[in-house]
Amino acid sequence: MTVPVLPTARLGTDGPFVGVQGLGCMGMSDFYGPTDRPEALATLDAALEAGVTLFDTADAYGFGRNEELIGPFLRANRDRVVLATKFAVERKEDDPSHRGIRNDPAYIRAAVDASLRRLGVDEIDLYYMHRRDPAVPLADSVGTMAELVRAGKVRRLGLSEVTGAELREAYAIHPIAALQSEWSVFARDVERTAVPAAAELGVAFVPYSPLGRGFLTGAFQAAEQLAADDVRRTQPRFTGANAAANAELLAPLREIATARGVTLAQVALAWVHQRAEVHGLTVVPIPGTRKRSRLAENTAAATLRLTAEELARLEPVAGEVAGDRYPDMRFTQVGRE
Ligand SMILES: NC(=O)c1ccc[n+]([C@@H]2O[C@H](COP(=O)([O-])OP(=O)(O)OC[C@H]3O[C@@H](n4cnc5c(N)ncnc54)[C@H](OP(=O)(O)O)[C@@H]3O)[C@@H](O)[C@H]2O)c1
Repeated sequence: MTVPVLPTARLGTDGPFVGVQGLGCMGMSDFYGPTDRPEALATLDAALEAGVTLFDTADAYGFGRNEELIGPFLRANRDRVVLATKFAVERKEDDPSHRGIRNDPAYIRAAVDASLRRLGVDEIDLYYMHRRDPAVPLADSVGTMAELVRAGKVRRLGLSEVTGAELREAYAIHPIAALQSEWSVFARDVERTAVPAAAELGVAFVPYSPLGRGFLTGAFQAAEQLAADDVRRTQPRFTGANAAANAELLAPLREIATARGVTLAQVALAWVHQRAEVHGLTVVPIPGTRKRSRLAENTAAATLRLTAEELARLEPVAGEVAGDRYPDMRFTQVGRE
């Protein structure tokens, strides 16, 4: 399939230009059921060919194996890709549900060296704090991240799931190029404080799970349809009565997709791009896929324009979603707002 090359957008006020949609690589190693390694690797190449240049991973994905998986691709295309990875989520292989949040300076210094080693690169283009531990002052965590910039290990800094106030406080310590948090037709709590702060500071917004972890595409209607170890089985929006109620909310997406001859995924992605325009900020969603076919579909969505009437039909959807984004919302910005 021929895919039109993506327009570009800038990460932060003086950051690099990237394709206006990135690629989330998490599912290639973790969380969303079995993966096909050759197809995942082919998807990385196809993404670059289509103009995707922001590739997103984290040290926590697959206990480091996601960084190892994409490392050779990144090294082979080092001057064409913008590599984003993250620290702060501590996991245990023998207890997969365990999540520790670590923001202390010693942890950060060790984490960056481990990521650089696994990725096989000298410098990380965009280094995110994956989650905030409120017990550690931002002066210590972001201050340590700034040290990494001065040491040449990291080019730019990012944060994930922080409040607008936290973003402002961090920015005063060191410029922040990107804020990565969940933002989709189904998940709009970032629009309260984080999005306005990012717009005001010139921080690019990188919406994660812009497809609602696949639910917005209609690919599954309930967690029971997923693999036994799929993390979505533990997420309140996708289980039991919530999932059934939320599946009903896809009706306007489905109607718009049918009328326009596009897919639900494309409607969901176009919505994020256009919602960011309303807020006046740069947006680079990172839909995740392990398949070349879906990559082409998702990339094509970056240039789809929904009408004002279509946007109005999608406006009430998030307010009606049943269930939280995570089983424990303390680890998100909502828990601190
Ligand atoms: N900062 C954070 O805390 C955080 C949290 C979660 C995710 N992330 C990042 O954000 C990225 C994206 O988020 P996500 O992967 O959670 O959710 P997502 O992008 O909303 O959805 C990904 C899911 O949708 C499926 N999919 C993708 N395109 C599709 C299409 N066109 N039609 C049907 N199904 C489609 C994928 O399956 P296939 O792979 O089979 O196509 C996958 O199961 C991740 O890869 C990760 O890098 C960050």
